Amino acid sequence: MKARVFSGVQPTGNLHIGNYLGALKSWTKVQYDYECIFGIVDLHAVTLYQNPEDLKAKIAEVAALFIACGIDPRHSTVMVQSSVAAHTELGWMLTCVTPVGWLERMTQYKAKSEAQETVGAGILQYPVLMAADILLYQAALVPVGDDQTQHLELTRDIAQRFNSLYGETFVMPATRTPAVGARVMGLDEPDKKMSKSATGTGHAIGMLDPPDVARRKIMRATTDSNPAVDFETMGPGVANLLAIFQAFGDWDDDRIKGHFSGMRYGDLKKQVAEMVLESLAPIQQRYREITADPAYLRQLLASGADRVRPIADSTVRLVKERMGLHQ
Ligand code: TYM
Repeated sequence: MKARVFSGVQPTGNLHIGNYLGALKSWTKVQYDYECIFGIVDLHAVTLYQNPEDLKAKIAEVAALFIACGIDPRHSTVMVQSSVAAHTELGWMLTCVTPVGWLERMTQYKAKSEAQETVGAGILQYPVLMAADILLYQAALVPVGDDQTQHLELTRDIAQRFNSLYGETFVMPATRTPAVGARVMGLDEPDKKMSKSATGTGHAIGMLDPPDVARRKIMRATTDSNPAVDFETMGPGVANLLAIFQAFGDWDDDRIKGHFSGMRYGDLKKQVAEMVLESLAPIQQRYREITADPAYLRQLLASGADRVRPIADSTVRLVKERMGLHQ
């Protein structure tokens, strides 16, 4: 039997090339070697207020983008978190073995809660639900971007604590981040991670950005005061553009160095734009085909939930048994 993979994306904001290079692209690479479950984690999304109609539309958009980006529905399961009740059930059980101090230390919690006047309990709880997503399927591997590694460490800590209190129950999940593209930075502010929620119009390249919009964002990206690429002294903006090119093109370091050393920034940006547009075009084309048939998406998500429910339910039964809860 193949080992299992679980990973997920929140259906909020616009999926961007950071989500693709950090996560979705590596999902397409592991999907034939593992039994993969890819979740649209809508319960995580509502830790911050979401307009209900927009959320529904985003769930369908993200599902279509998963397939458009190369998730093969004949091999991988695409599901919506809230359609499998066991995620919340296990979330509660894991909450009861998690010290609050572990949650308060999470950097994403600190960042998100600082930005709020009142901090919803769900924001603190967020990584426990994420641990439940993963442990529910006894996933051995979780492919994510760099910003999720701390949550993955916490997932292992929670699993270990549960196992030591109640006996061996959970598989320890390993984290996998891509060698290049694990942390794509904002084009306008290359010291900040590219984010779905950032407001700057030149910040992120959306997976569905029209070609002229994506090109303009790249041509306006922040660089530094050097005139041309110098691998010794380049700033974060230039390094980010090179990483985007490298991650899309799957070039090795030597080829990147040889090709770009000494290249003027205007030309670098033109080449990055070409690479990004060339890579996004077939994804956007497939996206249009998929969304032309809403029945296909409904069926995909319904059958995905049906397929994983028995796995999830059997873990909840095991956890209840271990904890002495009523079956
Ligand atoms: P989310 O929705 O913020 O992001 C989805 C995936 O994209 C990666 N990512 C990035 N990678 C590179 N550069 C960036 N700028 C960038 N921004 C985002 C993220 O690392 C992630 O892999 N908590 C998760 C969702 C989640 C999950 C899970 C993930 C819920 N349950 C279980 C894995 C397993 C999140 O908010 O991802």
